[in-house]
Amino acid sequence: MLNLLKRLWVIMKSPSSAAMGFILILGFTGGIIFWGGFNMGMEATNSEEFCAGCHAPIVKEIRETIHYSNRSGVRAICSDCHVPHNWTDKIIRKVQASKELVAFAMGTIGTQEKFEARRGYLANREWHRMKENDSAECRNCHEFDFMDFSEQGARSVKQHSTALASGEKTCVDCHKGIAHQLPNMEGIEGW
Ligand code: HEC
Ligand code: HEC
Ligand code: HEC
Ligand code: HEC
Repeated sequence: MLNLLKRLWVIMKSPSSAAMGFILILGFTGGIIFWGGFNMGMEATNSEEFCAGCHAPIVKEIRETIHYSNRSGVRAICSDCHVPHNWTDKIIRKVQASKELVAFAMGTIGTQEKFEARRGYLANREWHRMKENDSAECRNCHEFDFMDFSEQGARSVKQHSTALASGEKTCVDCHKGIAHQLPNMEGIEGW
């Protein structure tokens, strides 16, 4: 080990490789700082406070729903349902979300009236996203394999053991407006 270090030192002492070594070390620490900062950014932009900055009405609404308070004391926060867990998908979603910044600057949902008017369109976009990934975020918490039908109501069992089990339908096909008020559904097609 000592020998190896000595040899490395000799190599590093020659002027050109010293520069090289310096660059390597700089790159390495820079990488760590960037990476750490990047992950911290990912954490911070997943918090409810962050979303609340632009979605205050929604944060207020959700307090009335089962995903905020329930007998088990398990909460689902915004990012649990809206940000994929899978790393690649998460990055893609974050990049897509940067267009929300543009929309924010344009004030597309800047007032309650504007939000209500655009709500159906936005909800529809989210339903399509979840339809496409087979409601992956719901399934992070609700696993079909562990649903105990003997504990569910008759209406639930009837649907879960058929349309859900066969894969013909996914969660958001049947469960809309579980965390938010439903938008005005007029003119929203395909559901
Ligand atoms: C800088 C302001 C801002 C922040 C912060 C923000 N959003 Fe948004 N978000 C918007 C705007 C503006 C829209 C409307 C986009 C439009 O009109 O096309 C939007 C739309 C949405 C939609 C609708 C679906 C879609 O694809 O447009 C969802 C879901 C959403 N935001 C979730 C979140 C979540 C979850 C967070 C926190 C992790 C968050 N947003 C943080 C501004 C923001
Ligand atoms: C339990 C899952 C869940 C949680 C938690 C959740 N959402 Fe949603 N969100 C959905 C679904 C599903 C939709 C599609 C519309 C619907 O069914 O209400 C949606 C739609 C939206 C939309 C589009 C406009 C609308 O009202 O439909 C926005 C914006 C949004 N969510 C932001 C948020 C923010 C901000 C939070 C945190 C305060 C949050 N969501 C928490 C599941 C969730
Ligand atoms: C972070 C975990 C989490 C996520 C993500 C999540 N849920 Fe839940 N969900 C819960 C918990 C916890 C309860 C309450 C369980 C209890 O105490 O009965 C619940 C309850 C429900 C209920 C029962 C409602 C009632 O009135 O009994 C439905 C339906 C539901 N979730 C659907 C969904 C759908 C659809 C999604 C995806 C859009 C989703 N959940 C995402 C944790 C989650
Ligand atoms: C084909 C329609 C359909 C699909 C698909 C579906 N559900 Fe349901 N689910 C229902 C119905 C109907 C109920 C009963 C609602 C009621 O009685 O108010 C229900 C009830 C529930 C309940 C409460 C169970 C109880 O009886 O206490 C949970 C939790 C739930 N669904 C979660 C999910 C999740 C998560 C998915 C996706 C993995 C899903 N459901 C897919 C139709 C569906």
